[in-house]
Amino acid sequence: MRIVSGIQPTGNLHLGNYLGAIRNWVRMQDEWTAQGHDCLFFLADLHAISMPHDPAGLRANTREMVAALVSCGIDPDKSILFNQAQVPAHAEMQWLLNGTARMGWLNRMTQWKDKAGKNREGASVALFTYPVLQAADVLLYQATHVPVGEDQKQHLELARDVAQKFNNDFGSEDAPVFTLPDPIIPPEAARIMSLRDGSAKMSKSDPSDMSRINLTDDADAIMQKVKKAKTDPEPLPATIEGLEGRAEARNLVGIFAAMAGVTPAEVLVQFEGKGFGAFKPALGELLVETLSPMATRYRELREDIEALDAILCKGALKARDLAAPTLARTYEALGL
Ligand code: ADP
Ligand code: NA
Repeated sequence: MRIVSGIQPTGNLHLGNYLGAIRNWVRMQDEWTAQGHDCLFFLADLHAISMPHDPAGLRANTREMVAALVSCGIDPDKSILFNQAQVPAHAEMQWLLNGTARMGWLNRMTQWKDKAGKNREGASVALFTYPVLQAADVLLYQATHVPVGEDQKQHLELARDVAQKFNNDFGSEDAPVFTLPDPIIPPEAARIMSLRDGSAKMSKSDPSDMSRINLTDDADAIMQKVKKAKTDPEPLPATIEGLEGRAEARNLVGIFAAMAGVTPAEVLVQFEGKGFGAFKPALGELLVETLSPMATRYRELREDIEALDAILCKGALKARDLAAPTLARTYEALGL
C-alpha cells in the first residue's frame, strides 16, 4: 500500500498549520511506515504557479515548509519528502493525462469555479488543468490511498475517472496501467482561531502577530501571547455546551485539548470553575513544552539552506525511481 499526499508550500508557519495539517502527516507517517507501507509527501510547488506568485518567495516557502515538516517530525528516512518541480515526471504525466481528461469534467470542478470567479478569460490555463496535475501526482506512484479534505474530494474523484478512462482506452483488463486510489478521510483536524478574535482563523495573513503562535516563537513570546489572548470574564464551564457563544474560550480549550491529546470535555473536567488567570498559564506552559523542541529545530533548520536542499534532493531521487516504471508504461501505452 502506498499513500501520497501534497501540500502547498507556505512560509511563516503557525500553530494552525501545525495542528491543522503538519501533525496529521506526522501521524500518518508513523502509522503507515510502521506497517511497512510507503509514504510520499510532496510540496506542491508546481501547483503554486497556477496563481500569480513571486518566484523568490515560492523558493523560500518551499524550503521553509521542508524545515517545518522535518522539525515537526516528518523523517526523510521514513517518508519520501520532495517537491514536484524536482521530479519532472509530474509535469510529463500531466501532459500525458491531458489527452484523457475531458473539458467537461474540469468545467465542473468547484475549486476552478471559485478561484477563477467571474474572470475565467483571465485565469491561467494551469488553474483550469490543476486537477489533472493532481491526478498525475498520485497516479504516477500507483498510490492506493490519498488523504483528502472535504474540499479536495472532487479532485480525487476526477483522478479516479482519469485512471479508469485511461485503463479502458489504453490498458488491458488484466494489465491496467493505473491503480484507482481510495480516499482516506483524515481525522477531523482542529480548526484553530485567532488569539485576538474567536471568529477569525489563525492565519499568517493576519496583520497582528499577537493573533497567532508562530512556529518560530520562543517561550517568552508564547507565554506573552497566551496571556494577552482575548477571553471573557466567566470561569470555565463544566461541559462543552457551556462554551456556546464563547468563541475565544472555546478556541483556547480546543488548543489545550489538541496539544495535550485529550478531548475538550476532558480539559473542562480539569479546569471547571477556574478562571483564565489559572487556565492561561497552564496553556502557555503546555504550548512551550510541546512546541519548544520543534521551534528550536525549525529556527536552526530554516537557516540551513544546504541541509534543506539536500533533503529535497534525496527525496526527489527516490521519487523519480518510483515514478519511472509507471511513466514508461504510460508512454508505451500511448504509442509514444
Ligand atoms: P494561512 O491561513 O496561514 O495562510 P495556509 O492557507 O497556507 O495558512 O494553510 C496551510 C495549511 O494549514 C492548510 O492545510 C490549512 O488547512 C492549514 N491551516 C491553516 N490555518 C489553519 C488554522 N487556523 N487551523 C487549522 N488548520 C489551518
Ligand atoms: Na491562506
